[in-house]
Amino acid sequence: MKTSPRIQLFPHTTRNKTTRSGNQLTIAGCDLTELADQYGTPLYVYDAATLNAAVQSYQLALTQFYPGHAGITYAGKAFLSLAIAQWTQRHNLWVDCTGLGELRIAAAAAVPKERTLIHGVNKSPQVLSTGISQAGTIVVDNLTELERLKTLAQSNPTNIPDIWLRFRPGAAVETHAHIQTGQHDSKFGMSGQEIVQAAHICRANKLPFNGLHFHLGSQFHIPDPIEHAIRRTLDLAEELQMGADWTLCLGGGWGVPYHEDDLPHASIEDFVHFSAGIVVDGCTQRGIPLPRLQLEPGRSLVAQAGVAIYRTGTIKHTPERRWILLDGGLADNPRFALYQARYSALPIVEPLRPNADSAWLAGPFCESGDVLIEALPFPEIDPGELIAIPVSGAYQLSMASNYNGATRPAVLWLEDGQATVIRNRESPDDLIRHDKPLPNSSTNFSSVLFHKFHGLGNDYIVVREDDLETPFTPAQIQQICDRQYGFGSDGIALDCSKPKDDFFTVRFFNPDGSEAEKSGNGLRIFARYLWDAERVGLEAFQIMTPGGEVRALVHQGGESVTIEMGKADFDSRQIPTEGAHRESINEMMLIDGQELTYCVVSMGNPHCVVLCDEISVEDAKKWGPLIEKEARFPNRTNVQFLKVIDRDNIQIEIWERGAGYTLASGSSSCAAAAVAHRLGLCDGDITVHMPGGELEISIGENFDINMAGPVAKVWQGNISEEVFDDLTTDK
Ligand code: LLP
Repeated sequence: MKTSPRIQLFPHTTRNKTTRSGNQLTIAGCDLTELADQYGTPLYVYDAATLNAAVQSYQLALTQFYPGHAGITYAGKAFLSLAIAQWTQRHNLWVDCTGLGELRIAAAAAVPKERTLIHGVNKSPQVLSTGISQAGTIVVDNLTELERLKTLAQSNPTNIPDIWLRFRPGAAVETHAHIQTGQHDSKFGMSGQEIVQAAHICRANKLPFNGLHFHLGSQFHIPDPIEHAIRRTLDLAEELQMGADWTLCLGGGWGVPYHEDDLPHASIEDFVHFSAGIVVDGCTQRGIPLPRLQLEPGRSLVAQAGVAIYRTGTIKHTPERRWILLDGGLADNPRFALYQARYSALPIVEPLRPNADSAWLAGPFCESGDVLIEALPFPEIDPGELIAIPVSGAYQLSMASNYNGATRPAVLWLEDGQATVIRNRESPDDLIRHDKPLPNSSTNFSSVLFHKFHGLGNDYIVVREDDLETPFTPAQIQQICDRQYGFGSDGIALDCSKPKDDFFTVRFFNPDGSEAEKSGNGLRIFARYLWDAERVGLEAFQIMTPGGEVRALVHQGGESVTIEMGKADFDSRQIPTEGAHRESINEMMLIDGQELTYCVVSMGNPHCVVLCDEISVEDAKKWGPLIEKEARFPNRTNVQFLKVIDRDNIQIEIWERGAGYTLASGSSSCAAAAVAHRLGLCDGDITVHMPGGELEISIGENFDINMAGPVAKVWQGNISEEVFDDLTTDK
């Protein structure tokens, strides 16, 4: 192969070969022309072999040059997707996540807790709380954040992640000013004095503080300033008497060559050799234990593996410039606009043809800053030809935008001659997925966003009332909840909250279209929906329902919700049940020749709890509908069949008013637990076992009831109005 310095910028498996498409660049044995034809352009490809080689360079260098324990964290901000997060786990890398989105991707890829680390300069309460349940390490940026973490840790003292403190060492690396982070006036990290204060707060509050971190900036090539930063951090480690298991994290930032003029470039080995040497030397001088050395590269792990492929549309000549106009630019790669980043490029077919005059490679977007490369010596090229830009793996897709309605590119994973789509190209429909029409507008925008959650055997669809042009009819609710023709759900929670209120409002609908006053599982689901939309934080909040108001608290990063369900009321008028005003306890009814003992209780909605020695699905399905419609309950009732197991456990089968046999129900659990407690058969903390799962109910004085249980998000999408077509034509 004829070599060109430009080819050296490409992934290691890049070849210039004769293929069916002519003499052209291939990567990992894949024909780039065929891929561009098949998947469209702009197209991003990642070469697995180059990704793996970068990890190996770090690993080998750490083994060779650092005598202590060491590890590598991948800084996800460079580019995180499900597949990339999975790839990190092939190498047991830690993953640095900034924000809920990156945490979500890491969770989806099953990155284990001990390898999940959280960064961020102004972490939201949601990030901190999710971090406590999902991350093994939180890098604390400032004292305010530490106070928040302290409060969270007090209410959830088990399993607190390790805490590292981010130091601002006052050292500037040579790079673009926008990506320097360690200088004195940077918004990131804490001064030395603040670090000492933070360490004392951690120790006084038994927070597991065991690491120091700094990060000087990104895309630097001269490692020297890191020496000052390491020595200042070791001074702090000495002053704070860090124990033998302490970690020193040097951040990331090592640069990569983007252009042939950047070659030769100091290697990852050179960088690790330099840094590790200073750590060892500094610790020896101070007589302090050698830390675990953690590196945190982003760009230098993924940049070279990524290549962006564009198709040329127009060639234009202006007095001083030859413009090659491509089908991508600023929207998928804003790095020239932001940092004057200097890239290189090759045509994909006949890549080594001789260069003609310099060219300006630019995109289709309405902005003169939409340039990818300026003044690059480049061959003559025709409209329609493909162009590849190497070193496109870092901070391009992660900073991509929808400017001018651009749709983000598809991404392929290339390994052993195989190309696999790891991200689909966005579609124009994706651009209006979260949009809503103006009120009372006559647009035929005909879909409504729904969120589906699972809350223990029950699933609910949450929809905003404001999104509906007209309220759902009972027939439409039946249609949506239908498990064959519709979406399948045990009910609909309608978010009726008004922005001016300091509480939230919800109405619940059963799958038969009738309205329920209150639903325990529905309330947990509604609380989680509010949390996901960042409309609530770590404090308890108020939800209004037609069955009364409740308070809710989301914890464990959204995975669990506690609802204060209000009082269990045994007053017969509340149900209502016919006959004289009384406490409806241990009454008898004769149904179908069978004598049943029952109690009646209101949880904001009516419940009839039947006491049984044994319970079964068959009995619930047989007696449930008869009791629901029994004449003594003019508003009909929910029914539970209760078996007391011991003083802390009960088991129930449920027949829900309007819904029928149900695997799990929150308010039914509360009602049954309240009855078991009222009859003196159980104490105040009761686990309710249902076929669909378990809920924890605690009953306070005056029968105030708290219910805690899990919620998981299932799906989010649009309800198309077509689902109602055959109904609306009937009208
Ligand atoms: N650790 C921390 C705390 C960071 O803030 C960063 C990057 C890294 C690690 C990874 O640095 P790397 O090894 O990737 O240089 N958008 C800019 C780069 C911003 C870097 C921000 N922090 C660009 O396109 O050049």
